[in-house]
Amino acid sequence: MSTYKVNSLLEKLEQTHNIDKEGLILLLNSPSSPIGEAADRVRKNQVGDFVHLRGLIEYSNYCYRTCFYCGLRGLNQEVNRYRMTPDEILEAARHAKSLGLKTIVLQGGEDRNYPIKDLYHVIENIKKMDVAITLSLGEYPREVYKEFKSAGADRYLLRIETTNADLYQKLHPNMEFENRLRCLWNLRELGYEVGTGCLVGLPGQTIDMLADDLLFFKKLNADMIGIGPFIPSPHTPLASSTGGDMDTTLKVVALTRLLLPDINIPATTAVATKFQGYDRALSFGTNVIMPNVGFDQYKKLYNLYPGKVHHHAKAEDELNRIKNIITKAGRTIGTTKGFRGGLNFKQI
Ligand code: 5AD
Repeated sequence: MSTYKVNSLLEKLEQTHNIDKEGLILLLNSPSSPIGEAADRVRKNQVGDFVHLRGLIEYSNYCYRTCFYCGLRGLNQEVNRYRMTPDEILEAARHAKSLGLKTIVLQGGEDRNYPIKDLYHVIENIKKMDVAITLSLGEYPREVYKEFKSAGADRYLLRIETTNADLYQKLHPNMEFENRLRCLWNLRELGYEVGTGCLVGLPGQTIDMLADDLLFFKKLNADMIGIGPFIPSPHTPLASSTGGDMDTTLKVVALTRLLLPDINIPATTAVATKFQGYDRALSFGTNVIMPNVGFDQYKKLYNLYPGKVHHHAKAEDELNRIKNIITKAGRTIGTTKGFRGGLNFKQI
């Protein structure tokens, strides 16, 4: 493919934020640097130099799902399971608020023994702290999503993981691709800021499929997109697979920014784990980092994949480390709750 063709496709994408599948495949097969540079320009124009921090609380590592790639899958007997009490979650949230964080992300395995009424209680009380609340709790019926929203939740993260229905079914036994889609459209319709995303480098995944993932993000008009390389995890059926590569992962991140210019895109922990830090991702279109503000004794038990960065660090130390990275990259720490819309949206 001629460089001329690639450059003109990229130029058009940067201006119109639209491209067809064939164009995406061409770009995914071309060098990453020019795509990253275009994404960095769009990021700067649309959401500025701010990097928003979201305080992550991993409140339970119990999970009844059995996703092939995930270290926390219910069938993994090697995991020491924990469940934070509502009081512990609230204590971690108060601490995060005292450190200046403006969003709390509540994430967990799909722990069906965590009483939903306890989750409502936690959401209501975090809301009183005047922070934005993001949930990442997996699949629930529409009525439950509605109750979470009424309790005060602002955003919901639910990665589609892959939009290829066959690959999805292979990797997620007893789950339904159609239900995943239904959950996302329910969240959208209930007025959440909706986050989704995919894994890059899953066994059997092709460039063609990644192009479809990107077109899906655009079709859903997602407000947040989290992308990470698949990192093989011990004691899972994919333990001896090859993981995702840096270049492809960063291209998917950058193309997401080009397609959805004003959304929030995190430099994910998986990217930082695999590629020794957040810096590369920050220069490929991302504008969010999610420091872990949970309790030290639990962080090391939340092993989705091996080698998760700095999971032993204290919240304060991890936050300072991340703030230094942001400043060194010539960026500014966000001072608002950081809803979608960036520079064109009056932030509170
Ligand atoms: N490698 C990378 N990311 C993973 N996740 C789960 N297991 C792995 C893994 N082995 C991601 C999934 C999930 C998110 C919480 O963590 O995409 O949505």
